[in-house]
Amino acid sequence: MAVGYSCFALAAVLLLLLFSASEAATVAPAPEAPGKLNLTGILEKGGQYENFIRLLKATQVGEQIESQLNNSFNGLTIFAPTDNAFDNLKAGTLNGLSSQEQVSLVLYHVLPRFYSPTTFQTTSNPVSTQASGGNGVYTVNITASSSSSQLNVSTGVNQAPVSNHLYLDFPLAIYSVDSVLLPYQLFGPKPPAAAPSPLVKPKKATPRAADSTADAPATTASADQSTSAAATRVISKAAAAAALLAVLTVTIANPL
Ligand SMILES: *[C@@H]1O[C@H](CO)[C@@H](O)[C@H](O)[C@H]1NC(C)=O
Ligand SMILES: *[C@@H]1O[C@H](CO)[C@@H](O)[C@H](O)[C@H]1NC(C)=O
Ligand SMILES: *[C@@H]1O[C@H](CO)[C@@H](O)[C@H](O)[C@H]1NC(C)=O
Ligand SMILES: *[C@@H]1O[C@H](CO)[C@@H](O)[C@H](O)[C@H]1NC(C)=O
Repeated sequence: MAVGYSCFALAAVLLLLLFSASEAATVAPAPEAPGKLNLTGILEKGGQYENFIRLLKATQVGEQIESQLNNSFNGLTIFAPTDNAFDNLKAGTLNGLSSQEQVSLVLYHVLPRFYSPTTFQTTSNPVSTQASGGNGVYTVNITASSSSSQLNVSTGVNQAPVSNHLYLDFPLAIYSVDSVLLPYQLFGPKPPAAAPSPLVKPKKATPRAADSTADAPATTASADQSTSAAATRVISKAAAAAALLAVLTVTIANPL
């Protein structure tokens, strides 16, 4: 009699265990890397930064920024030129740059810390950019008018008012600018050209594989794999428990 009841109880426990194991196996897959900022997404939402997005992609600076945001203690500030700003460039301005110079141009629009409109007001000039490399070149000046809160960013070649922000949440600040910022090192007056020597001509940087999005599916696949591996582990644990219970049940039902 007592044995019959405990058999029944054990079977119930067994069913319950199997049921909860299958529940666990269907639990939602691991979430995306938390808090990863989607720079392209933010700019796309702005609706007028297609040229800048393309340039970030072509130079791979976009990826660099996203991974820097992950580690950068000071945050980053980006001046995002509008499509209108690119339209206003003299024809051939971008195509006249080597790929390395295009990288510098994009990095010139990124400051290596988070600036709120208030911290801009108190910054001291010149301000390093991500293109500066600690050499005091590729800097910008931020100037505020004494009468208003209007800020200008100037390069020594051109200047632009710093318009409203597209994004302002540490570690990332993005401000819209109506001009492409032209670094003095690339667009300032050139010293009289010496006879061109092929020996000192800088090598063109070989662009790395342009389409980095090819990596994305691989990452997703491995995430899936680890999820299903976890599921398999849960299921095999449940199977082991079931086997153990089955043995117990048999032992209790046939005591001798
Ligand atoms: C970023 O946002 C864009 C546009 O919303 C989207 O197409 C893209 O898949 C997103 N990238 C990531 C890594 O989430
Ligand atoms: C960002 O940081 C998280 C957590 O530290 C890490 O798992 C992830 O791989 C990092 N992503 C990049 C692109 O560095
Ligand atoms: C900002 O630049 C505009 C021209 O783009 C100029 O008219 C204005 O005076 C400048 N303001 C400051 C504070 O430099
Ligand atoms: C930037 O500011 C520094 C320091 O005030 C000044 O010496 C320099 O001439 C300025 N450069 C430009 C391009 O305005």
